[in-house]
Amino acid sequence: MKKTIYLCLSVGFLFSNTSYSQKDETSLKTTYEKDFLIGTALGIEHIYEKDAKANQLIKREFNAITPENIMKSQIIHPEFNHYSFEASDKFVEFGQKNKMFIVGHTLVWHSQLPAFVSKINSADSLRLFMTEHIKAVAGRYAGKINSWDVVNEALEEDGTLRKSVFLNKLGEGYIKEAFDLAAKADPKAELYYNDYNIEQPAKRKGAIELIKKLQASGTKINGVGIQGHWSINSENLKDIEDAIVEFSQLGIKVAFTELDYTVLPNPWDLKGADVNQRFEENPKMNPYKESLPDSVQNRLAERYENLFKVFLKHKDKISRVTFWGVNDSHSWLNGWPIKNRTNYPLLFDRGFEPKKAYLSIMKLKSKPTN
Ligand code: XIL
Repeated sequence: MKKTIYLCLSVGFLFSNTSYSQKDETSLKTTYEKDFLIGTALGIEHIYEKDAKANQLIKREFNAITPENIMKSQIIHPEFNHYSFEASDKFVEFGQKNKMFIVGHTLVWHSQLPAFVSKINSADSLRLFMTEHIKAVAGRYAGKINSWDVVNEALEEDGTLRKSVFLNKLGEGYIKEAFDLAAKADPKAELYYNDYNIEQPAKRKGAIELIKKLQASGTKINGVGIQGHWSINSENLKDIEDAIVEFSQLGIKVAFTELDYTVLPNPWDLKGADVNQRFEENPKMNPYKESLPDSVQNRLAERYENLFKVFLKHKDKISRVTFWGVNDSHSWLNGWPIKNRTNYPLLFDRGFEPKKAYLSIMKLKSKPTN
């Protein structure tokens, strides 16, 4: 497989030499420059520039960054009166230094909450936590963060509001409150609603209702983030295209905020990205421990190619496409929803080399019509 890639790189349409990673300036971000931003999620190791190869790849290929974990309330706000801004300051500094579009992820989410929140009993205390949190975090980076995922995953699969601690204690108005607080704390940032599976019809309908309500009440909302945690084994392009069109008809931007394609079997055909769902380890569920067969590599490339064809068709509606991780070894899908697996969901392999999927996306832009 690798040989094929090197061959394409060396004799192909884009690259003039084999030592691609050192010399060639052609990259995802330059190739898609006129279409939409190309982002990646950064782990703590990337923020602190621990690995030279990863660091070089991030700077070369991507022009937008999202913090994978360090801005979640559990980490940035561990105690009621204590914030931990060291890593997030470093993250923002990294983005500024490299002139990247900086995404804040995420202000209000029912997962990865600090332990003290589970002990909160009254609506008033929870409201105080949410208010102080948004003021402190969005306020600290006002004018520096380009876009906030204000509320994350507030919907159930059937499109009704998720029965989260926020809904249960504060009522459905908490979503509007969160957006209004974010707009006040950082008037310049774009504000997004972010969720998984909202390309699917029922959940999409719920998201559209939610966004329409916010708009009708005069609340600022600039866009919707479709997470994009998908599987090479299920077809959903029509849903994705319909979602792009329907969301943009609301007058907002559409971003793909956490893109990856699992190549592994999913337990019970699980779809989505509920971080609280976990399953037992089992060798049958980890079939490509040593290497990825060419047939699967090709399938992944084909899935990415078809997806990006849809993205290009609707590039006027899409603001950003962010991959959920830098390379395969970094991906959260090695540990979720089953621990200790070897997954291959991204465009760069464990040696930071571009995979066939990368080439398939680059190739799309070599045609004169794009
Ligand atoms: C994931 C991270 O990638 C993991 O490292 C962490 O253990 C759990 O969360 N939806 C989101 C992201 O909005 O924040 C989640 O990120 C993946 C699903």
